[in-house]
Amino acid sequence: MNPNKELWEKGDFSTLAATMRGSSDALVDELGIAPGMKVLDLACGDGATALPMARRGAEMLGIDIARNLVAAAQARVAAEGLTNCRTIVGDACDLSHLPDDGFDLVVSIFGAMFAPCRAEVARSMVRVTQPGGRIVTGNWIRVDPAMVAQILKLLSDYGPPPPEGFVPPTMWGIEANVLDRFGQAGVPPEAIAVEPPSASSTETGGPPPWPNGSRPASAP
Ligand SMILES: C[S@@+](CC[C@H](N)C(=O)[O-])C[C@H]1O[C@@H](n2cnc3c(N)ncnc32)[C@H](O)[C@@H]1O
Repeated sequence: MNPNKELWEKGDFSTLAATMRGSSDALVDELGIAPGMKVLDLACGDGATALPMARRGAEMLGIDIARNLVAAAQARVAAEGLTNCRTIVGDACDLSHLPDDGFDLVVSIFGAMFAPCRAEVARSMVRVTQPGGRIVTGNWIRVDPAMVAQILKLLSDYGPPPPEGFVPPTMWGIEANVLDRFGQAGVPPEAIAVEPPSASSTETGGPPPWPNGSRPASAP
């Protein structure tokens, strides 16, 4: 089995996500969601960000590698009777089933950072975003005081050495890496903005909506 899939299906991220509903809502408030907007939530988990966007009228597609989390998202969608939020199992490393320019907005909150194929994910995010659309990612980075970022830092500092070539997820949102990765995917630097950690606290003791290194980018 794909080790990334195996890893995420082992636990139940919903338990943690349930403590962050307020920050997901606050984040979505900043995204300017309008009814009918086509939005992709990549690595959507149990729908933490997808559901608030669907409630605001977006035509949502959520994709996640973990079957249990997609099932949890589907249960939450059904419980709310939302008809504009579809969630499917899929790997961010292979989005070839998605059409070019299919979305007004592509979002990945604490999601794409965990996919091992960094460059491919960025290229796919750009490819499926329509010209003039937006890509928004939220990322935990090592210097973020948020609890989860600090746990990831501890794991990488004190855990067993990773396999050769492994790039820690907490590197995804580092500004230089974001510029490089999305630059190689065709987004000019002037269309990329990296926001520092927000001053607002999350339920997990850190600063989300735009946790460190969150980076809205515009499709070229
Ligand atoms: C920290 S959780 C965040 C979930 C959700 N975006 C949220 O904010 O609650 C990371 C998510 O990334 C998903 N994920 C990890 N690697 C993935 C990949 N290669 N393709 C799709 N999803 C992936 C995991 O299954 C998990 O749901």
